[in-house]
Amino acid sequence: MDSSPSPGVASEPDHSAAALLDEARAMLPWMVDIRRDLHRHPELGLEEHRTSARVCALLDELGIAHRAGLAGTGVVGLIPGREDRAAVALRADLDALPLQDAKQTPYRSEVAGKMHACGHDVHTTILLGAARLLAARREELAGPVKLIFQPAEETVGGAKLLIEEGVLEEPPVAAIFGLHVDPELEVGTFGLRYGQRNASSDDLKLTVHGRSAHAAYPAGGVDAIVVAAQVVSAVQSVVSRNVDARESAVITFGTVNGGTQANIVASRVELVGTVRCLDPRIREIVLRRVRQTAEGVAAGLGARAEVEIRPSYEALVNDDAMVDVVRRSAAALVGEQGVVVIDRPNMGVEDFAFYLAKVPGAFFSLGVRNEAEGIVHPIHHELFDVDESSLALGAAIQALNALGV
Ligand code: NI
Repeated sequence: MDSSPSPGVASEPDHSAAALLDEARAMLPWMVDIRRDLHRHPELGLEEHRTSARVCALLDELGIAHRAGLAGTGVVGLIPGREDRAAVALRADLDALPLQDAKQTPYRSEVAGKMHACGHDVHTTILLGAARLLAARREELAGPVKLIFQPAEETVGGAKLLIEEGVLEEPPVAAIFGLHVDPELEVGTFGLRYGQRNASSDDLKLTVHGRSAHAAYPAGGVDAIVVAAQVVSAVQSVVSRNVDARESAVITFGTVNGGTQANIVASRVELVGTVRCLDPRIREIVLRRVRQTAEGVAAGLGARAEVEIRPSYEALVNDDAMVDVVRRSAAALVGEQGVVVIDRPNMGVEDFAFYLAKVPGAFFSLGVRNEAEGIVHPIHHELFDVDESSLALGAAIQALNALGV
């Protein structure tokens, strides 16, 4: 910490975008310090104890009331508005990834095998920055602003846990905004997507049960490896033959395990994978056909397939009116030329979808790329980094979104 925040003492609060951005840029050193501290101390999902404590300490400094310990490490702050009505929520995620940081920067991860390679340190810092901007503008806020610092985006879907613990109640939430760093987008730009933005996911486990025999006498058994190979091939035809060519779906098996040794016909093979879809109707068709195909192919070859499907993340669907709120904020900050409307959804998942299934809102992208500085690596990469000037833009846009609803 190199400077202490002073909420409430801004001489003339001004929510015009230019003034807000100036103020966000003025507090950039404070934000960079926070971000680098979090970056040096990454924690995995549901273990974000230090991160959570830092957030609480900073909210205390800003004079913002908060509750800690939601789903273990979640923190929820509340900035009251003039009226006692439903809140606008802003959300950040806290967790890092199990990855070794390969950067050569003074702020690289100090924890072996863990790294903020998805920019959640940036998201957390931005939410603190937005909180500081808004705390200095309490009298301009029509209603309260809820600040959601959420654990475990990368693992168990912390959003779902917080919703179960009542994060969208008391006060109720009328609108919610979240952002994600995007190293494909140049710093100074924002990426917006109307409607579907991210896929749903389902975890898939197929177990092929055959019957063991001596490898020299396979006719005496049922070879689970040969059956599993056919099941894998046949299941791939679900996307190519059962899904309308204009729709999207992905089926990927990530692991195959089976057999014991070279001279034994395998009695059991386990396949683990994931299914991604954008449309709930397509999701229903794909999951049904995966099950039928695996069971049918295995049965035809004298084996048995046991199919377990576990729903994971919901598809993320933005509310178009809320995307318009973000679009106005973005244009006010960086001009129309800095607003990129993304024309295709992506097949990755994001647990912000769980909030959007309950309340209208928008999830959008913050440009962090800087080719001249070599900041070009994708998220989840061992060299991932961001142009830190994006912190000011992120804080300013989230504050504007809260003021604009
Ligand atoms: Ni992420």
